[in-house]
Parts: sequence; C-alpha cells; structure tokens
Amino acid sequence: MRSDGKTVRSGSDKSTAVPKHIGIIMDGNGRWATKRLLPRSAGHRAGVKNITPVVTYALESGVSCVTLYAFSAENKCRPKDEVDSLVDLIRKHLKPMTRDLIARGARVMFSGDRDYFPDDIRNIISEVENENAFESAQTVNIALNYGGRSEIVRACKLAAQNGEITETSIEKALYTAGLPDPDMIVRTGGEKRLSNFLLYQSAYSELFFTDTLWPDFDAAELQTMMSEFARRQRRFGKLQ
Ligand code: IPE
Ligand code: IPE
Ligand code: MG
Repeated sequence: MRSDGKTVRSGSDKSTAVPKHIGIIMDGNGRWATKRLLPRSAGHRAGVKNITPVVTYALESGVSCVTLYAFSAENKCRPKDEVDSLVDLIRKHLKPMTRDLIARGARVMFSGDRDYFPDDIRNIISEVENENAFESAQTVNIALNYGGRSEIVRACKLAAQNGEITETSIEKALYTAGLPDPDMIVRTGGEKRLSNFLLYQSAYSELFFTDTLWPDFDAAELQTMMSEFARRQRRFGKLQ
C-alpha cells in the first residue's frame, strides 16, 4: 500500500507505478497572457520559467525521460512577431535551462528539424549536445521544430536506405531511438488532441488532459496525474 492508501500493482502487471517516459505538450501560454492583458510573448516567457520546476519534479520522482513539446513544426506558421519572440526565447534560455538540467544529472537531447533555426541557435543546440555527451539514466528530450508526421516520413526514408522497413528499423531511425515509448502524455491548456506530437511513439501512451494553462501547471498536478497513471490498467491489446 502507498501512503495515499492506493495499492500499486506490481510484478507481471504492465502498469508499473512510475512512468519511464512522460511527454508534455506545454499548451496554453498565449491564453495565460491574454487573460492577464499581456502580450502572448509574456505567456511564452512564463511558460519557459515553468519548465525547470516541473521537469525537476519528474526526474526526482524517478522518471527516466521527459519529452517537452516546445515548438511544433506548425508553430512556424504563426505571425512573424510571435515566431520571432519564440526564437528569441530559445536563444536566451535554452543554454542556461539545459545547463541546470545537466547539472542535475540529466542528459539533454533534441528532436526535430534544427535546420530551420538560424546559425546561432543551431550552435547553441550543438554546444548543449556536446556538453552532455555522457551516459545518464535520465534524459530530457526537447522537441524543437518537431512534427510527428515528418519524423515518421524521415524515419521511413532512413530505414529504407539502410535496408528493410520494419518496426524495428523505423524505431531506430526516429529522433527518439533508444528511448522508451512515452507511458504518459500530458497536455495542458484544455485541448484534447496530440497536435502532431510523438505520433509513432504514442501508440499505447496513457493520455492526460488538464484545463490548467502551462504556466500554471505545477508539480502537485503532475503528481496527481502520476498517481492516476499508477492506477490505470494498461493492456497493450491483451486480456489481463
Ligand atoms: C503553447 O502555447 C506554446 C507553443 C505553442 C509554442 P500556445 O502559444 O499555443 O498558447 P495558446 O494555446 O494560444 O493559449
Ligand atoms: C501544440 O500546441 C504545440 C506545442 C505546445 C509546442 P498548439 O497550440 O500549437 O496546438 P493546436 O494548434 O492547438 O493544435
Ligand atoms: Mg496552443
């Protein structure tokens, strides 16, 4: 029994208490700002500030991977001033934020098409990757200019170049190669959709939606979701 009185299933049950991989769709920054009569960019700033405490809680809880949906391939189609403000935030905060996570023992990696970004941002991404070229039990995967469909197309092309297209060869060619599939996908901001996030990997993910806007989402709410995750029965198509 756990301290909250709930029984955690164990043993052969696939529903283990702590998820290995949590994907987070950090949505609702714009509405958070609009509600406060602030420009949308202020919501994105508040959203960036919220990343470290939530991710730190997940890592401290024993999660081995957190994937953060920070900037989708489709987000490039927003008005130029919004895209510019998002790119500026990446420019300003990516290095200090990832340094902090690396100092906590996590490996930071990136998913998505980085060729879109200007040289200085691509350099920051490479520097971060070089800074943490070490083995770690915990990974923070930042999805930047990421789209699930284009990831699948890219992976199929790579798999075909290297031989046969199979589930194994596709998995090896995804950005997330080597990572477990997300056990939980959390979406803040009230929408109930995946918006092109981890489409291949989410085949059996448990989905969690909350109306809380990303800048207001906190460790306590994640803890509640993780407790619910531990109570869910995952069957993976089988009977048990
Ligand atoms: C999510 O917040 C952050 C990004 C997409 C970069 P939004 O900007 O989508 O915020 P809402 O959904 O408009 O409130
Ligand atoms: C998903 O949110 C992308 C990120 C959180 C980075 P969006 O706000 O872009 O998704 P839609 O447009 O509501 O589907
Ligand atoms: Mg949104």
